[in-house]
Amino acid sequence: TVHVDGRAVKSCNVLAVQMAGAEVTTIEGITPAEGMHPMQAAFKACHGLQCGFCTPGMVMSAIDLVQHHPHATDTQIREGLEGNLCRCTGYHNIVRAVLAAAGDEVSA
Ligand code: FES
Repeated sequence: TVHVDGRAVKSCNVLAVQMAGAEVTTIEGITPAEGMHPMQAAFKACHGLQCGFCTPGMVMSAIDLVQHHPHATDTQIREGLEGNLCRCTGYHNIVRAVLAAAGDEVSA
């Protein structure tokens, strides 16, 4: 999952040519040189970090979600992240992390 002009998009669902002129941001692009993005920090603080396969997508989707729905409920967060699948664990701490980050007014 990457951000295309500020919206979370699954990179496997778009063609490179469709990105002409668009601003594409990866998980590396939201991470400051020192420290973490507030959403990354919230995932860490709430034990929402899972594996390196699913966590970047969760974080990128969560940032988009909070930016466009800053007062999302638990249910709305679960619905907003439903395209990000993890077969290993649960989503409880991820939802806690998104709620915590929303309280910190997460920005890109
Ligand atoms: Fe990443 Fe399950 S912890 S896919």
